[in-house]
Amino acid sequence: MAPTLDHAPCAAVAAEPAFRNFLYDHPPLYEKVFADYAAKLASATRIVFSRHLTKASRAILDIGCGTGQVLNLVLDDGDDGAGLDASERMISYGRSKYPRLQLKQCRMQSFSFDRRFDAFLMLGSVLNYALADEDLDGTLVRIIEHAKPDAVLFMSFWNSGIFLGDGSRTRQLGMIDCDGFSAELETVYSFCLKDQLMQRQRTWRAGGQVISEDQCTYRMYFPREIKYRLERFGLTVIGIYGDTALETADLNGSGCYLVAKVGQV
Ligand SMILES: C[S@@+](CC[C@H](N)C(=O)[O-])C[C@H]1O[C@@H](n2cnc3c(N)ncnc32)[C@H](O)[C@@H]1O
Repeated sequence: MAPTLDHAPCAAVAAEPAFRNFLYDHPPLYEKVFADYAAKLASATRIVFSRHLTKASRAILDIGCGTGQVLNLVLDDGDDGAGLDASERMISYGRSKYPRLQLKQCRMQSFSFDRRFDAFLMLGSVLNYALADEDLDGTLVRIIEHAKPDAVLFMSFWNSGIFLGDGSRTRQLGMIDCDGFSAELETVYSFCLKDQLMQRQRTWRAGGQVISEDQCTYRMYFPREIKYRLERFGLTVIGIYGDTALETADLNGSGCYLVAKVGQV
């Protein structure tokens, strides 16, 4: 019998939200665990701005900003910093910690602000939560609607290629020991190849007890696919890098870092 092609999306595409994540429910811990990486992302953002956005008093929108930790690090005096995130807890923590930021709880696919921006950030795998093609398209439509001429977009996303290797990435054991909190992490990755989705199940154990079970679904995007999609929406991709120093084009690590401009360069 000929195989039938199943066009129905994986259950994860329809599920809302696409994540259950212990760290997003504990924003102070999230910030501590990611403090070093946040500093690296902020430094990478400063490199992008020094290369492609030299004007003063910039309006910057951070899409999927979490608490606003990275955005807060990149703002200069006179900048206007706004952020949005789907997580109510991350946003309310960010509002109390960073009062100068305008933070909104909403989804990237449907955000609306009353002004346009010089720069957009989408950092730390936010893009990978755009599970369906329509989610990415909806986000790009919103970006274009809110962009000033020549606006810059800086995004980071999972380097999907590293999961295609020898299978060594399908299960990982790790530890977090941060500021008096310690836990063992067991992470298992599984894949729905038809929809290019990765499911990450993570069990948190402390003192021998399970304290949380995360489940996050990520869309596995590839650099050429993202470049093609951005260009269809009128953005020009300037560079895709494999490191936060934005020096190498070799994609050997876990992240891809992409810089684009609205319009033709
Ligand atoms: C790994 S965190 C990155 C946070 C921040 N950009 C950073 O680099 O620290 C991913 C964030 O994406 C947010 N997120 C997931 N799906 C989203 C959606 N559809 N719209 C807006 N934010 C979303 C989560 O709530 C989470 O705060």
